[in-house]
Amino acid sequence: MAISPETVEEVNRVANVYDVISDYLSLKRQGSVYVALCPFHNEKTPSFVVSPTKNIFKCFGCGISGNAIKFVMEYEKISYFDAVVKLAQKYNIPVKYLDSEKEKLNKGLYAITRMITEFYKENLKKSQICKDYLKNRGILSRTIEEFELGYSPEDSSLLQKYIQEKNISVEDLEKIGLITKTDNGFKDKFSGRLIFPIKDIKGNIIAFGGRALDSVRQPKYLNSPETVIYKKRNTLYGIYESLEHLKEKQSVVIVEGYMDLISLFQIGIKNVVATLGTAFTKNQANLLKKYIKEAVVMFDSDEAGKKAAIETAKILLSEGITVRYAYYKEAKDPDELSKQGLSKVKEIIDRSKDIIIFLLERLKSIQDSDIKTQLKNYQTIYNYITKIIAYIEDPSLRNSYIEIVAKYTGRAFANVESDIEKVRLLTKIERENLKYSEDENKDIKPKLSIKEKIVLKHILENPNFLQKYNFYDIITFSDTLGYYIQLINSGNTQIIQDLSQTLNQHNISTTEETVLQILEDFRQEWIKKQKSLDLSTLSEKNFTDVFNEIKTLKRRR
Ligand code: UTP
Ligand code: MN
Repeated sequence: MAISPETVEEVNRVANVYDVISDYLSLKRQGSVYVALCPFHNEKTPSFVVSPTKNIFKCFGCGISGNAIKFVMEYEKISYFDAVVKLAQKYNIPVKYLDSEKEKLNKGLYAITRMITEFYKENLKKSQICKDYLKNRGILSRTIEEFELGYSPEDSSLLQKYIQEKNISVEDLEKIGLITKTDNGFKDKFSGRLIFPIKDIKGNIIAFGGRALDSVRQPKYLNSPETVIYKKRNTLYGIYESLEHLKEKQSVVIVEGYMDLISLFQIGIKNVVATLGTAFTKNQANLLKKYIKEAVVMFDSDEAGKKAAIETAKILLSEGITVRYAYYKEAKDPDELSKQGLSKVKEIIDRSKDIIIFLLERLKSIQDSDIKTQLKNYQTIYNYITKIIAYIEDPSLRNSYIEIVAKYTGRAFANVESDIEKVRLLTKIERENLKYSEDENKDIKPKLSIKEKIVLKHILENPNFLQKYNFYDIITFSDTLGYYIQLINSGNTQIIQDLSQTLNQHNISTTEETVLQILEDFRQEWIKKQKSLDLSTLSEKNFTDVFNEIKTLKRRR
């Protein structure tokens, strides 16, 4: 960041060249000047001169000259601004920075979100319904204050009046995504809702979440849209309030919802952040990484929560953060659990195991009556395990998990390793996209070759084709095709539209015959590649073997 001109001026005024250089070189007096051997070139007799009165240095050997800042820059090989900072520190001058244009704009918007928050807070005090709602949910007034909860009144004219008083423009309210315009002014999107201000790590209010007070109003929660100051993928609810506790504990409890976070905080578990019910991102992992060594994932106890926990674990582990899975059946979510008291929640956190070990123990305990179901369940969990480990980019961490899997399943290290390598191959694009999707300016879509375009076009126009052709095979031998087919299968209409638009730009006509030929070419190429990689396949036979191994292992104990 750029330093303010005042700071540079002050450093220039105060920094005495003799004083500064004598920290680095031994200077000898010669009349009104000081001399030394020049540090910037090789010499035997001193030609480096420092003049305290003129406040400059000059070398008559190599010609270098300048003031104190220049000397520190050249000697330390650091930038101009770094040299200024170093000298400011020496002379105890406070360093002021120039705000970039964007930061200036954002600061203006933060001032507005702050004022709006004050408005909501005031209105909570006046709303008996909202106060009763919070009381019913066991939220104490100190918690309301700490998280600056508020209430948006039903009547939007109150906000209209408030912004007039405070000189807030309607344009700015639109910029922060707060309002929808109507014929007679605007309407607060959050009206009639309990408000959770969402803060960044520095405490700036960047967005709002609003909860309906009854089940009539839908959706249950409404959140600010993405704005210039709110990027969902970079945000974790509660990080500002929990930061000191994260640093102290070097551990974070990750929950899904606003209420989960607030309730845990209230009973004394304060190293907690919430994902707000959306997919956990690499940016969120990076935000946490600086402060913690491990994460405890404590999601809803239903199936959806379990699946989300696995997805979250993949991202955390890909960033080298180890993950413990908080497994509990005592309640539906951490909010409900918190009502059973601190010691109960602590017990669940303390007993939570590394997620891979948790899954491996599940694997071992599978005991269904018929072998087919057993095999199916085994395969499902084993796939989770291999997928999570495949996401670990640090080879030594990955290997240590492979070792654990080998130990638990009784399989050879090399076999587990090749299973993982295969999943890594299949998820290559997915894993790469993970990095890119965090970066706004990157085109995340892998480029399509003409052959791949032909295949995709055919699939889009003939959905039945995928029933005839084994989808798993396609994914295996073309990760780009696999990626797009997964998108098509996900049923995301936007993606399908985008894709067909792209494909329609080329006047490609397809026949089943050409498509089959192309796929056969891909398959051959893949077989060649596979031979050089020597990968074992995850065939059913393989699984039966594994399963029998485990059974003997169990019998032996
Ligand atoms: P949940 O449905 O689990 O809600 O969604 P909750 O946290 O238990 O909320 P309460 O206890 O009923 O009040 C978890 C999170 O998903 C987001 C919210 O961030 C919520 O906290 N969500 C949920 C939405 O954004 N919109 C919704 O309509 C629902
Ligand atoms: Mn919940």
